[in-house]
Amino acid sequence: MIPTPKPGVLDIAPYIGGRATAAGAARVFKLSSNEGALGAGAAAVEAFKSAAGALEIYPEGSAKILRDAIGEAYGLNPDRIVCGNGSDELLTMLANAYLRPGDEVLFSEHAFLVYRIATLANSAVPVVVPEKNLRVDVDAMLAAVSPRTRLVYLANPNNPTGTYLTGEEVRRLHAGLPPTALLVIDAAYSEYVRRNDYESGIEMVSQFDNVVMTRTFSKIYGLAGLRVGWAFCPARVADALNRVRGPFNVSTPAQRAAAAALKDRRHLEDSIAHNEKWKSFLVEHIRKTGLRVDDGVANFVLIHFAPQGAHSAKAADEFLMSRGIILRGVANYGLPNCLRLTIGSEEANRLVVSALEEFMRPR
Ligand SMILES: Cc1ncc(COP(=O)(O)O)c(C=O)c1O
Repeated sequence: MIPTPKPGVLDIAPYIGGRATAAGAARVFKLSSNEGALGAGAAAVEAFKSAAGALEIYPEGSAKILRDAIGEAYGLNPDRIVCGNGSDELLTMLANAYLRPGDEVLFSEHAFLVYRIATLANSAVPVVVPEKNLRVDVDAMLAAVSPRTRLVYLANPNNPTGTYLTGEEVRRLHAGLPPTALLVIDAAYSEYVRRNDYESGIEMVSQFDNVVMTRTFSKIYGLAGLRVGWAFCPARVADALNRVRGPFNVSTPAQRAAAAALKDRRHLEDSIAHNEKWKSFLVEHIRKTGLRVDDGVANFVLIHFAPQGAHSAKAADEFLMSRGIILRGVANYGLPNCLRLTIGSEEANRLVVSALEEFMRPR
């Protein structure tokens, strides 16, 4: 007899992050992980550096300075905010706190992969709901609800499709859930969304006992390397998360840098403007090459390639990699003919367009 993991654990396909190196390329442009194109703001970097003088001291465990800064920025009660080592940790903590073996967890066909991992790690059952035109299908989600539904993960906007549900649609989804099921709105890309009918979920959390919203500093704030995310929760959910949370799960430099980033409105606005400008540029020029591009509402776009032959996703990936341009293959998201492109610096975006023009030119 040998020790065996809990049921479900060995069914997990380990998460593989975006590649960061391209063999033989003199310079590399990493457009594979939806990291913020402008990097971290100067205020965040300064706050990070200023934490270097006291690295021997444990962090303040509840991340109070950061919760207070988030509370102030959004007008929220800091007691209902829980910070995490990236929002990944919060998504996982929610599963750890709420799932019993055999519970069902709903998420959509092309949803963020962490939901499946967190579900299986708790011996719960993933219920994967088909999408319609690469968009979450609220009716199909509601049809999949059962008395065993305990968690519903909704990435809004979703990665890697870039599509979103309107506030009204999210409310319709919530209205069809039993009160014993928790709706987790993962709003990792919400700062990028420029749509009047979009809601990040804050209002819904204020209104309902079974809705949680998670956010991250990894994307628009450019702090992915520090690992900081937060959840806005009903009081009872915050209490549960604080019981399962690691005692010092967000480091002092991370707390300080994230708090400073929140106050740096200029960096946020510059990042939004950069994203809007260059997303339009990329979509327009890549479409001109004859490729289908879905212009999502976040900081990435999905490019569709031929199922096989010279213009397949695999061929495109190899071609771009040979020029040091790294996109994300999304076959593991059920999209084998697509590559996901993160909006990058001006230089990177221009290089992507010229490389794809060359790739699509008749040879
Ligand atoms: C939809 C979605 N949610 C959450 C995350 C996790 O972000 P982090 O753990 O860096 O906060 C990502 C990162 O790719 C994502 O795409």
